[in-house]
Amino acid sequence: MKEIGYYNGKIGPLDEMTVPMNDRVCYFGDGVYDVAMTHCRRPYLLDRHIDRLYRSAALVRIGMPVGKDELKKLVGDLIGMADDGDLLVYLQVTRATAPRSHAFPRGPANLWLTVGPRKIAGREGIQSVITVEDERYYFCNIKTLNLLPNCLAEQAAKDAGCDTAVFHRGERVTEAAHSNVHIISAGKVITPPTDNLILPGISRARMIEICAEEGIPVEIRPFTLDEVWAADEIFTTSSTSLCSRVGKVDHTDRGMKDPATFRRLQDAIYADFYRQTETE
Ligand code: PDD
Repeated sequence: MKEIGYYNGKIGPLDEMTVPMNDRVCYFGDGVYDVAMTHCRRPYLLDRHIDRLYRSAALVRIGMPVGKDELKKLVGDLIGMADDGDLLVYLQVTRATAPRSHAFPRGPANLWLTVGPRKIAGREGIQSVITVEDERYYFCNIKTLNLLPNCLAEQAAKDAGCDTAVFHRGERVTEAAHSNVHIISAGKVITPPTDNLILPGISRARMIEICAEEGIPVEIRPFTLDEVWAADEIFTTSSTSLCSRVGKVDHTDRGMKDPATFRRLQDAIYADFYRQTETE
């Protein structure tokens, strides 16, 4: 099966699956999700993605309908049914199925999974980004389905002929439309703190660990648009594009001035992905 869907125990080809209109996701986007990539049928950092899904659910008071081990097994079963090749695993939990009402019922929550072909990206390309004022709310640390500002920003980037959008709140750079953003200055990686203005990216956390292994210094602190203009390197991290370089910001050449540090880090990140997924 090319793309497989799972909804509360039902499994089938994704484009044949149906869900009840009263699933609260339809009215309120009332749910949380996570995304992991696989290679050789092994998901990368799956435990961390599952832990974050449970954390996101708890933060919005959704009771998970299955335990972590059961969820892991379900993901494994779906990966086993998928066609050969690298896959994207999407996990989603929505609060309940009930008539529309802002105050919510107690559940039970609905579990959604999809598995379909996708190759890890980000290694070769050079991204061009636009900057967009971050007008999102203060729940950016929760991986909720409420992604309208992210979709609008990403589309604005595409309309401008660019790859993605980088958000900033005033001078402070927060994150990108669907990735975390970091800079390298004077040989040091600078990455924003995980407060409620950014998603605590799994790839960001692994990138910080890999910097320690590689002896690349890391400074965790907010950085500004001015620092982006002046940075030696600018890059994004996400599960789908592990570590991707930025070469243009608002149609102007930026970064790309410390290829040695950037490539060392990027190579180590991709090596970690293949090492963890290719070995038993
Ligand atoms: N996006 N920030 C935002 C807003 C994101 O949507 C994502 C991931 C990240 C990076 O998180 P991680 O390293 O855990 O993937 C940061 C996923 C891939 C998506 O929505 O498709």
